[in-house]
Amino acid sequence: MNTETSPPLVKLTAVDIRFGLADGRVLQAGHQLNLSIHAGDMIAVIGESGCGKSTLGKVVLGLLAPSAGSVEIAGQNVWARGYRWPKAQRLAIQAIHQDPFSSLNPVRTLAQILSPGLKYHSQTQGREAIRLQVHELLNAVGLTPSERFIDKYPFQLSGGQKQRVAIARATLLSPRLIVADEPVAAVDSSLRLAILDLMKGCNREQGTAFLYITHDLATARYFAPEGQLVVMYLGRMVETGQIEACIQRPAHPYLQALLAAIPGSATARSDGELPLRSLEMPSPIDPPSGCVFHPRCPYAVLRCEQEAPQLRSLSPGHSVACHLATAEVTMEKGQGP
Ligand SMILES: Nc1ncnc2c1ncn2[C@@H]1O[C@H](COP(=O)(O)OP(=O)(O)OP(=O)(O)O)[C@@H](O)[C@H]1O
Ligand code: SF4
Ligand SMILES: [Mg+2]
Repeated sequence: MNTETSPPLVKLTAVDIRFGLADGRVLQAGHQLNLSIHAGDMIAVIGESGCGKSTLGKVVLGLLAPSAGSVEIAGQNVWARGYRWPKAQRLAIQAIHQDPFSSLNPVRTLAQILSPGLKYHSQTQGREAIRLQVHELLNAVGLTPSERFIDKYPFQLSGGQKQRVAIARATLLSPRLIVADEPVAAVDSSLRLAILDLMKGCNREQGTAFLYITHDLATARYFAPEGQLVVMYLGRMVETGQIEACIQRPAHPYLQALLAAIPGSATARSDGELPLRSLEMPSPIDPPSGCVFHPRCPYAVLRCEQEAPQLRSLSPGHSVACHLATAEVTMEKGQGP
């Protein structure tokens, strides 16, 4: 449900994020980030550790002010001087974190963790009525029978069960957007699909939009097969488009390399190695000149060292930041852009 006519839930325009370090140097965690998230969108953000995925998530959540550019939430520039962000709008964007243990209050039972939100949201009064709703919520996220869970503390639950509580808490306020930052990274692989299915159900049944942050392309594809992929590298968005289109026709050499490392993918290499000139990620404090990917790119030419490529459209909805990428090329094994 991509409602192009209504204003986006969140719109980032030319957002830069810079962190001043104690030694006076500046770390650029985000550069010229443009992103529109509409009701019901499923967007997966992938990239290596430190590329700026969580930073992007914090900007979308309205937790981190941009150093440059604008962040509009429901059509309002939330960082404009004097603007007071209404509580209802703030609650319409919720987060699910990688480590549910640190985000759940350890000295409260599940009933105590979930009741305040229910009281606020449904205006339900009375202890028994609220408790009944907590039971319904626990059942809805698969913590069944709910009698077994309702009076437990987070430390008495497994990682997957805790993440279900975190999802219940995030969804009980009927948010319009959930930023899920590596929600299954700390969960046993056998339970990952069930947690992703739970979130997919929120999208299908309630139209909740998701920004799903992960370093794992396979779960991104599972989570949002019809959705949008955003590939990040060193604080930049280097490719974006419909997930299957990006996977079938990866335009940026970095995405091609990520795909080559996945066994069974169209461009997989039998040795499982990333086909890069170097495995080392450059420092965001002192990024390379021109295209920041050039020291690792197997196709780099002189222009790549001198000129930064802009994100440009290759085909409707599919954009790439690479001087050499063209729409016509279908990636064959070992072939360049
Ligand atoms: N508050 C901060 N102060 C200084 N540097 C920061 C701060 N927050 C993040 N960074 C730096 O910004 C860069 C991007 O960090 P971020 O957490 O967004 O990466 P990430 O893609 O989420 O990585 P991971 O996959 O490991 O979670 C990193 O180099 C990180 O060290
Ligand atoms: S612009 Fe050049 S260095 Fe950058 S990804 Fe494209 S070919 Fe590689
Ligand atoms: Mg992160």
